[in-house]
Amino acid sequence: MAQVHRMFFHYSEFPLSMRTLFTGTLLVLGIGYLFAMIHIYNSHAGRDGKPGISVEDVAIAYSGNKEATRLEAAMMGPMSGMLPNEERGAISGWLRRGVDEKEFEEKIKPIIEKRCVACHDGSNPHIPNLDGFEHVQETAEIDTGMNISTLVRVSHIHMFGITFIFFLMGTIFSHAYVRPVWFKSVVIATPFLAVVIDIFSWYLTKLHPGFAIIVVGSGGLMGMSFAFQWIVSMYQIWFYKYSHEKHEHEATLM
Ligand code: HEC
Repeated sequence: MAQVHRMFFHYSEFPLSMRTLFTGTLLVLGIGYLFAMIHIYNSHAGRDGKPGISVEDVAIAYSGNKEATRLEAAMMGPMSGMLPNEERGAISGWLRRGVDEKEFEEKIKPIIEKRCVACHDGSNPHIPNLDGFEHVQETAEIDTGMNISTLVRVSHIHMFGITFIFFLMGTIFSHAYVRPVWFKSVVIATPFLAVVIDIFSWYLTKLHPGFAIIVVGSGGLMGMSFAFQWIVSMYQIWFYKYSHEKHEHEATLM
């Protein structure tokens, strides 16, 4: 007679101690996921100059902003009112000619001292220090985004960490009663596939910002799978009454 798989046990067949263990794991994993979201928001939001987080922000985080240095972006954006056009032109020209120190001392330093150093003298740690060549130079580097060694480091941490999280999550969720079984298996498999796609698309995004949409998409898939497994597991652990008799005649032996 076709039945549910003999290895399948529903939460309601487990002792209270194991349901407590599953619940504690789900609770802390859920809170951890929220912190991960906050972290992503804090580290990416507003990079494109607009509030909130967008695919554009993710593209800039990985591939950098090839159009402008931080100094130039500020002069075109929030600092544009601080100096007249000719002086901005002089600074832009100097940036484009390669940030030469001699030219800085002769032509650029006087402008910056007159227009900028009143605020940017290094006394406020939240805004860049523009006092002297060395400091100005730091804001005059092209933003090339995340460097490869950072990506490699974060990649292995992510792959190991996320595999652990979704192994725990999937193990707990495997005891939920979800049909069809192929769908349940897809939900379990999705985050593993998504993390690999996500991480490879970081490198692709570094080469070409257009791939940022794949970073965001695979992150979204991972989140959806997490939320689905979490909610279904938590609900069935405490509220779903499963009986073997009821499902005895099911045609799925998977
Ligand atoms: C009246 C004070 C004041 C003056 C004068 C001023 N700034 Fe700023 N600057 C700020 C503040 C405050 C911030 C941080 C808030 C922001 O980014 O809008 C900032 C931010 C910046 C940043 C960092 C932007 C980023 O990437 O986060 C740069 C670069 C900059 N200013 C350049 C300049 C230059 C160049 C001048 C002179 C032409 C100048 N500032 C004049 C107050 C000033």
